[in-house]
Parts: sequence; C-alpha cells; structure tokens
Amino acid sequence: MNELAIELNRTLDSSVAAAFLSETGRRLYFPKGIVAQSDEAKQKARTYNATVGLATSKGQPMHLDDIMSVFKEGIFKPSDIFNYAPGGGDKALRAVWKEEMVKKNPSLEGKLVSGPLVTAGLTHGLSMLATLFFNEGDTIVLPDLFWDNYDLIFSELRACNIRTFRFFSDGGFNVSGMKDALMSLEGDTARILLNFPNNPTGYTPSRKEMEEIVKALKEVADSGKKVLVICDDAYFGLFFEEETAKESLFSYLADAHENIFAIKADAATKEDMVWGFRIGFVTYASKGFTEAHLDALTKKTLGAIRCTVSNCDRPGQTMLLRAYQSGKSVASDKERTFGEMARRYRTIKKTIATHSTQYLEAYPFNSGYFMAFDTKGRNAEELRVYLLDKYGIGTVNIMGRTLRLAYCSVEEENLEDLVNKVFQAAAEIWS
Ligand SMILES: Cc1ncc(COP(=O)(O)O)c(C=O)c1O
Repeated sequence: MNELAIELNRTLDSSVAAAFLSETGRRLYFPKGIVAQSDEAKQKARTYNATVGLATSKGQPMHLDDIMSVFKEGIFKPSDIFNYAPGGGDKALRAVWKEEMVKKNPSLEGKLVSGPLVTAGLTHGLSMLATLFFNEGDTIVLPDLFWDNYDLIFSELRACNIRTFRFFSDGGFNVSGMKDALMSLEGDTARILLNFPNNPTGYTPSRKEMEEIVKALKEVADSGKKVLVICDDAYFGLFFEEETAKESLFSYLADAHENIFAIKADAATKEDMVWGFRIGFVTYASKGFTEAHLDALTKKTLGAIRCTVSNCDRPGQTMLLRAYQSGKSVASDKERTFGEMARRYRTIKKTIATHSTQYLEAYPFNSGYFMAFDTKGRNAEELRVYLLDKYGIGTVNIMGRTLRLAYCSVEEENLEDLVNKVFQAAAEIWS
C-alpha cells in the first residue's frame, strides 16, 4: 500500500470512519503527483511554470473565442471559464457553500464539520461514498421507497446488499422500522442512507419525527454499533408545511455520538436550479472527529475525485460563485421558484383529496418535487403505459407498485387535469 495511504489510515484508525473504510477506501490517498506539484509551483515558480497540461499564453488559457464571446465582455476572464478547477472544487465556492449550509441549518453553528468538497453532481458524490465506505457484500439500509439510482450505485457498482424497511407507519416516517432494520444487521457496523425531502414520495419528517430519528440512531450507536448515516439532501429547502423539519438530519448528527459517522451529500443541482452544471458537495462530521480526521477523510476523497473525474466542472462553479458573490437576484429567484413549487404542492394536494382511494392512495407528502401513489397491489407499470398511450401523460413507475408524479415539471393550471386523468385512467383499467 502507498505510504501516503498508510499514513491517512493511521490517522483515521482512531476514528469511527475506520470502521467503514472499504478496501479501496483504505488504499486511496491524494498523490503528491502533478496536481500537488503544480499547486506548489503556483506559489513558488517565479520564472516559468512548466507544470500543468494546459495551453496558455500571456497568463490565460488559449480558448475558442466562439465560447468566450457568449459571455458579456468584462464579466469573466478566460481563466474563469477554461482553466481546470481544483480537485476539491473552487475554494471560494466551497467556503460560500459551507457558510450557506450553516445559515440554512442553524444547529450546525459551532460544530466541527469538514470543508465541503465539490463533486460532479450529487450522484458522483454518492458513487464516491460507495467506493470509499462500502465493500462488496456490505449492507445498506434504505426505506423501501427510494431513488432508483441507489440500486445501481450500491447493488450493482459496489455489489452491496440493500435491506429495506417500510417507509411509512401510521401516516408518518417509520422510525421504529428504521431502528429495527439497523439493529438486525449482524456485526458492529450499520450503514444507512436517508433522503429528505424524499424522492419518490415527497416526504420529509416532522420536527418531532426528526427528533425521534436522531434519538433512534443514538440508541443504535449506544448499543455499541458504529453507524454510518448518509444524508442525501438533494431537494433541501423545499418544505411546504409548518410542522416539517427544516434542517438537515446531518446538522443533528454532526455531534450526536462518537459511534455515528454523518455524511451530508448535497448539491447546487436542485437547490440553485443548475441541473446541468453538475455541482455537488460532500461534507463529513462526527462527534469524535478531530481536524486531523477530517483532513485525512478530505484527502481520501480528493484521491477518489482524482481517479474518477480528476476535477469538476469549472464554468459552472465560476458562474454559481459569481451569482452568490455579486448576483442581484439569487434570493428572489429562489424565493419565486419556492413560491411556485409551494402553489403546485397545494393544488395537487387539494385535487387528490377530492378523489377516492380505491385504486390509488397518495403516500404522505409535504416537500420536494414529487408525490407518489401506492397502487395498492396493482401493477404501476400497467397504469404508466396506459396513461402514456391513451392520455399522452408521462409518469414514473417505481418498483411496480408506486406511481410517481413530478409536479415540479407541470404548470399549476394543468395539475388538476393531470390528477383527474390519473385517477380516471386507474379506474378505466382496474374497475
Ligand atoms: C434523491 C436524489 N439524490 C440525488 C440525485 C442526483 O442529483 P445530481 O443531479 O446532482 O446528481 C437525485 C436526482 O434526481 C435525487 O433524486
């Protein structure tokens, strides 16, 4: 094993993270290769800097004028658009993201968390976490309604087992089911991923449920199990009800217990409406972590970035940072989108309430982009295809027993008609 990896492992051995590092995770390190040497040269090479594979002239990257001219003159330098971004992302953007994270999650104030590392979207972040912290045959606990890509990432890419528990009980999040699933795992480690607001259900726990989730996870940790909790916060902020918990689970777990290793995987993708930019973040915390542990985890993750995408999208990071630093309407644009999503949420909720639950029953939903129907044992794929063929309506079948509506992508004035047609179609094929 590389000396640098051995050193990082030695640092992490005194932390909860050591219990989760996969064999690949243990091997990874951030090399003192071209990137590190060119970083050093940036500071010290006063005469010539012949380190980076990037064609430059007069201090700027050579480039296609047809691309540069798309931007208003004087806004960006070619280097802002065409240079490589640092492996962990633009430093200033990382700092802004962290600052915003604390503003959005006041419970994080004063807690020790790593500097968020930029990933090529949230998917890339999850994929790297799977590589770093899951061996073949490890089990990940998930609620039984989850984003289908977890299957590819954890089962197929990393050959892990998925163990599910029922998402809902008594109309709310099934906290005891979650705890039982964790406690039923053999061995002294447990891995879980929780995604709120949830895809596909559109559910976020209430404040009380969030407290219960934290309490249950602490109890599992108290039992001696080490628990890895990945918080997928893709749709963070889109909370439409008063009683819904408004902070990420991560903010409560960051200093909850020495046996809890909390990871926040989030992204500008939906939060800042930059879906195609591919900007995500990974942030680590645990009650027992020191700065040295966080530094070692950061270096391992930088190694994982280096050997997958090397570094992430530069123009996207530049533009997002500029919007945060000097944009005039970031807050109002986000507010407008939130308002529109909230209106759509209320319309769809109201319309669904006018229908019988004989064939389709909406799962509880209060946040995010989606709602989903339990098809009550009937084939959701049959309904999906029927809706598409007869009504030209696109929906998503989840696991054959759930039909998901992405109301985020349908105008408010069409939502009533959409819902009515979905119920009508269900009655047509199943009555
Ligand atoms: C729950 C969840 N996590 C992660 C992602 C991926 O986000 P990104 O586009 O940033 O990779 C999505 C996107 O659909 C999602 O629904």
